[in-house]
Amino acid sequence: MSINTDPQIPGVPDAAWIEKLANELFSALPDETPKPVLSPHLEDHPRMEKMLNLIVPGFSKAPAAPEGFQLSDPQTSLADPHFADGKVPPSATGVGVSPAGAVRSYTPSPQDIKPPVTAPAHPFEVNESVFKPYQFDHRQEIELKHILAAISNFEKLPQIPANAFHGADPAYYFLQNTPQPITQSPGVSGFNVDLIRQDFPVFNERVNGKPLIWLDNAATTQKPRQVIDRVSYFYEHENSNIHRAAHELAARATDAYEGAREKVRQFLNARSVNEIVFVRGTTEAINLVAKTWGDQNLVAGDEIILSHLEHHANIVPWKQLADKKGLKIRVIPVDNDGQVILAEYASLLSHRTKLVSFTQVSNALGTITPARQMIEMAHAAGAKVLLDGAQSVSHLRSDVTGLNCDWFVFSGHKVFGPTGIGVLYGKEDLLNATQPWQGGGNMIVDVTFEHIQYHKAPSRFEAGTGNIADAVGLGAAIDYVSKIGIDAINQYEHYLLEYASSRMQVIPGLRLIGTAKEKASVLSFVFEGFRTEEVGSALNREGIAVRSGHHCAQPILRRFGQETTVRPSLAFYNTTSEIDVLVDTLYRLRRGRN
Ligand code: ALA
Repeated sequence: MSINTDPQIPGVPDAAWIEKLANELFSALPDETPKPVLSPHLEDHPRMEKMLNLIVPGFSKAPAAPEGFQLSDPQTSLADPHFADGKVPPSATGVGVSPAGAVRSYTPSPQDIKPPVTAPAHPFEVNESVFKPYQFDHRQEIELKHILAAISNFEKLPQIPANAFHGADPAYYFLQNTPQPITQSPGVSGFNVDLIRQDFPVFNERVNGKPLIWLDNAATTQKPRQVIDRVSYFYEHENSNIHRAAHELAARATDAYEGAREKVRQFLNARSVNEIVFVRGTTEAINLVAKTWGDQNLVAGDEIILSHLEHHANIVPWKQLADKKGLKIRVIPVDNDGQVILAEYASLLSHRTKLVSFTQVSNALGTITPARQMIEMAHAAGAKVLLDGAQSVSHLRSDVTGLNCDWFVFSGHKVFGPTGIGVLYGKEDLLNATQPWQGGGNMIVDVTFEHIQYHKAPSRFEAGTGNIADAVGLGAAIDYVSKIGIDAINQYEHYLLEYASSRMQVIPGLRLIGTAKEKASVLSFVFEGFRTEEVGSALNREGIAVRSGHHCAQPILRRFGQETTVRPSLAFYNTTSEIDVLVDTLYRLRRGRN
């Protein structure tokens, strides 16, 4: 059998793809002298004959590329630190062939040609017979990419069954633990990333002439049209302060605002709307708890346990309180993958522990902490628990009742809602037993110059006119996420994360920081030979937005010997094609330096 140079033949690997992918692989091998694989004589490369024999049992020789199939010159396309023709193909926004198409012309095989479709009127009214749950790249390409990603040593490559490339649905037993193209996915029926992306106007933006690739979701998420329109509608039709009885618009505004509170309640699975306090964001919520409950209840000698993973917002308020009151802060260490060490945590807990405050997902590493278990352990020691959900709400199901945390905090802008609005969930009794921190209107029942009577929660913590319109916008964001389904989102993102991790970890000189078994969204890394801001700038030149810096989480980066990292972070509107552009750009950066 020989490899196929006719991309019209389905189910058979073609020379052009093997060429590109082999070049990627060889550049990843330690001490490899750069020597490009050139089609059609792939086997001229010293390593290729063996590899081709492994991929294509019985391989003899590669026939010439067919007429009309133009191959790029790898010397120029791969050595150039920028894309050869300065273009990123349409696939970069989530449709069609891989960005590899940017450097060569490619005719899809008949099985890859999608039927013409008419987009349904509403993204959630998906015609499943036409729209598959996921639309990924060319299937052969994905499989070959994973063959290449999976092997770092040809000697270890298992023999591929002789019929591997025959039939409609090739599958390789040794790839069972690596991501593969998904054409049907249990629990994700109707999820269509291309349709979802149409809801986000910002994805029509171009940055440096390239389609925007938004991989800075841990910093903030983009907003769907439904959220933008809802906020506009509020200002066009409902704008008023929230004093229901005064007049018609006051009633509309109050209904919209309190309606949003109910949506948050459902989203978090809280027992009552009285447990939902609107605040400016996660930072304000944590400060609120520190400066009310903490200040009112903790005394010198008490201990607060934080994890090493925490964002500055979950360190600074507690450190300020500790300094003010003589409290002790103790820190749960993490292992070399960035996972909290539960045995160490257990040994920190004691009768002195009054509070455990930790994140459900690390913003710097992506680690998902075992929140339920940690909360149980804290409660068993008699401590209260604040769970920071800033990085988890958009990726994981939030269930404050099931988790039994005492407080849960998050920001609206991290879950596709507006900035300047966030939520403090607190158990109702606990909130009502806590004195307010800010005084003003709306939060009182009665005021004299001698006496003040406060409302119960949540009003007692909402002094002054709040961010009414953006609370309503947050409600719309929650509706949006709920319609897609947080579990479907979780499943799709899990796939994306695995796909990205498997591609990134074989890039020479790239070190992922944070390799926990349970992770969400975040792919922090350092790139040998490059400052993180250089990498960020290079990615920005290709339209890719990532955060590079300390991510407001200096302690955990220093734990890994770093002051800064580059941090791509994923959301449900990202695609494998976007990840390919990221990876290709990193390879080009690497080659430009070598
Ligand atoms: N906390 C946000 C981040 O991690 C701003 O980028």
